[in-house]
Amino acid sequence: MQTSQTRDLANSRGVHIVTYGCQMNVYDSGRMLDALAPAGFTSTELPEAAELIIVNTCHIREHATEKLYSELGRLRVLQQERARAGGRLLIAVAGCVAQAAGQALRARAPYVDMVFGPQSYHLLPSLLARAQAGEAVTETEFPAEDKFDFLPASRRAQPVSAFLSIQEGCDKFCSFCVVPFTRGAETSRAAAAILAEAEGLVAGGAREITLLGQNVNAWHGAGTDGTNWGLARLVRALAGIDGLARVRYTTSHPRDMSDDLIGAHAEVPQLMPFLHLPVQSGSDRMLAAMNRKHTAGEYLALVERLRAARPDIALSSDFIVGHPGETEADFEATLGLIRAVGFAQAFSFKYSARPGTRAAELDGQIDEAVKVERLGRVQALLRDQQFAFNQATAGRIVPVLFTGPGRRDGQMSGRTPYLQPVHLQAPSRLVGEVGRVRITEAFVGSLTGTLMLEEVTA
Ligand code: 5AD
Ligand code: SF4
Repeated sequence: MQTSQTRDLANSRGVHIVTYGCQMNVYDSGRMLDALAPAGFTSTELPEAAELIIVNTCHIREHATEKLYSELGRLRVLQQERARAGGRLLIAVAGCVAQAAGQALRARAPYVDMVFGPQSYHLLPSLLARAQAGEAVTETEFPAEDKFDFLPASRRAQPVSAFLSIQEGCDKFCSFCVVPFTRGAETSRAAAAILAEAEGLVAGGAREITLLGQNVNAWHGAGTDGTNWGLARLVRALAGIDGLARVRYTTSHPRDMSDDLIGAHAEVPQLMPFLHLPVQSGSDRMLAAMNRKHTAGEYLALVERLRAARPDIALSSDFIVGHPGETEADFEATLGLIRAVGFAQAFSFKYSARPGTRAAELDGQIDEAVKVERLGRVQALLRDQQFAFNQATAGRIVPVLFTGPGRRDGQMSGRTPYLQPVHLQAPSRLVGEVGRVRITEAFVGSLTGTLMLEEVTA
């Protein structure tokens, strides 16, 4: 379908983007489409219909990086078939692996035509022209200019729930993390540019915006009134946009959770009562080894302050098991912290040594079998908590933002304020509306319910 649409447009050229990794990569893939649009490119779901395929990569764990190489193997076959038929398929690798391992990647997959990092997406048309002229393009310097000043405004239809990057990079240097090397130093966009982009997203159909940044609550930038704003002020300004029903932000560092931002959770109705606040470990010894700059006690105190401001706030987190030096007692402290907080949802990972990071050089690397066993235990506890949280919504009436068609005929999907997916019978015209739904059944990963039709709001 996408292909016929694509081909219907005079002179249109197909680009297929494969996206791995975090939400920022999803956002970036959209911005690459924006950058290519003036050159006549439109997105195609079908690799066979594309003249350019971009793999937008993630470097956060080894597993994520390995996925790239198996994908490239498949694309190589397609590229050879195309060449045999007298055509040309350009393969590009973008994102964090490109940034961190550009030269190594070239050596391992020499048939890749373009390798470029996340700060170069505005250069895409010129990089493409160079690749078309036969150059093996590698662009992994951090350019002096800000890509956001050069990326064209999006003309795409927007999803009901859209992402908006407001901050990139990180100066915190957690022992395990590759982000400071892939995304560079912490930078914040100016409020005026963010507000203009948000208005564009809403005009394009978005009703919910998730503000993105590797360290999003460290955002601080020039305000529209000439003063320096923090994230709370930005959220308040976004809440003034007509038609924007919900605002979220992710990912936050506990150290940057200001009083002002906590206050915004109490006062701004559009700011959803759900916060992803990674803690990584419940052991102070491990938190110090991880260079997290907070203790378990400080995290628990922060959770209390958040709950005092917004009693119905629900929390999500990230956990790493098996960081170098982690003992059974350290791990049990993590389980203890999880029990003390009670998370609505969380992600947990086995520690994966990343090149260039401090933890990769530490003594006391943990056996794979121990990591697997700890991951199993932490995930069982988190699954129980998620199920309990979902079950607590059964029987209640909750506002659901309808995001699109559901799994079955006549069904729609939506999200509660706590990001729980809801599937229910509802008319498709409700996409983009917030409806009140009585939750009838709760599962570990989703809810079902019935629509209170008479109460649908515009
Ligand atoms: N190994 C395992 N997990 C990691 N994360 C970041 N770096 C690593 C690593 N080297 C996890 C952290 C982070 C999330 C995005 O990924 O929990 O919050
Ligand atoms: Fe992966 Fe981090 Fe890059 Fe996102 S920023 S794609 S999580 S390495």
